[in-house]
Amino acid sequence: MAEKKKRDHFGSKIGIIAAAVGSAVGLGNIYRFPCMAGENGGGAFLIVYLGIVLALGLPMIASEFMIGRRAQKNPVGAFKALASGAKGWSIIGYTGVLCGFLILAFYTTVAGWTLESVYKSVINYYHGKDLATIEQGFNDSINLTFRPLLWQAVFIFISAFVIAKGISKGIEKYSKILMPTLTVILIILCVKSLMLPGAFEGLKFLFKPDFSKINDQVLISALGQAFFSMSLGMGALITYGSYISKEDNLVTTSLTVGLSDTFVAILAGIIIFPAAFSFGIQPEAGPSLAFNTLPMLFNQMKGGYLFCLLFFILLVIAAWTSALSLLEVIVSYLIEELKLSRRKATIYSSAGAFIISILAALSLHNDSSLTIFGLTIFDGLDKITSMVMMTLGGLFTVIFLGWKVKRQDFENEFTNGGTVNMRLRKIFYYIIKFIAPAAIAVIMVSQFII
Ligand code: PFF
Repeated sequence: MAEKKKRDHFGSKIGIIAAAVGSAVGLGNIYRFPCMAGENGGGAFLIVYLGIVLALGLPMIASEFMIGRRAQKNPVGAFKALASGAKGWSIIGYTGVLCGFLILAFYTTVAGWTLESVYKSVINYYHGKDLATIEQGFNDSINLTFRPLLWQAVFIFISAFVIAKGISKGIEKYSKILMPTLTVILIILCVKSLMLPGAFEGLKFLFKPDFSKINDQVLISALGQAFFSMSLGMGALITYGSYISKEDNLVTTSLTVGLSDTFVAILAGIIIFPAAFSFGIQPEAGPSLAFNTLPMLFNQMKGGYLFCLLFFILLVIAAWTSALSLLEVIVSYLIEELKLSRRKATIYSSAGAFIISILAALSLHNDSSLTIFGLTIFDGLDKITSMVMMTLGGLFTVIFLGWKVKRQDFENEFTNGGTVNMRLRKIFYYIIKFIAPAAIAVIMVSQFII
């Protein structure tokens, strides 16, 4: 009898951590988080964010890993397999696959800018230019048709290249090289930023809490940011969980992933704000800070050529390892549910993602009429995925694990068959069954009422 082909797995604990932290740490940490913190009360936002990470984020990372590892399947297959025949639950999985496509669309657009910025750094484009000229150049390139699309295509290609190689020889191998590189660059840039005169003002901006700015908007923004940053609620961690070995302690792995992700977000703030303040610039929100202001600032520092280049390489690596997990959600679905080969699944999913990303990119043109809900397609996709699809996905994922999966199976998976985490299992069960769904629901509902 032909032996069933064995599923590919991560080969080591370090490999799992590198890949999962790689998924979590991305553009969301390095350029979305500092802007959010800046806009929503600095230290006050940070406190709310940390609360959400500890109370909800960490248990949810573990939940997704548990579902994936228990089922040994992609998100659609996993909900089907664990729902004991109740078909409706697989909708969460399908929504995750769709969400993967939608995130990839705007994510690759920004990733394309990061590649272009690496190129501009290499040719020393930023040198001697003032902010207005750099901004003009950035806007001009966004408004071009082919160049941004070309960079997007390059980015999708390098992501597809890794995915086509599979888990241990692709995602794991590359993450184990890329994530240490990212860490080294982060540390170098942090040290540089902290040594700038006036750095303290920047730190104050990031860490000093302004509680008057906390309101419901801040809560839902922090929730959306936490979900986006930790890659929650759309099946990425279910997919990676399905490649984790049965011996791995999911509690320590989840803690490492969630805390590293948060730490990197804070480090990114420590790079960005001191640099801005030491040059007397009020950090404004949005892409301009990372793509225009920072290169201009770096180029006024000693050794600026190198720091600027390192900063954009950092962004490329962060985006790349995150895109891998987004693509893998779709690819694993196509392989296991629609029986495609990995090669074909990779080609179809990356081509599909590229096509939607063209719409996202073109919607940013000055004269574009490509809009949804009154926003550009680019902004619309960002909001719909992080604030609606991922939060709802997360809500139903914890409801599923707490209420649908048998308690015995739940505890078995959490404790690796009764060998680890025995003391934590009850409290974890109650968090997933009652606290997590209630907390997410309250934040979401309060948003609608207001
Ligand atoms: N966590 C990534 C970031 O912070 O940039 C974004 C992301 C990656 C979201 C993978 C969802 C996902 F499945």
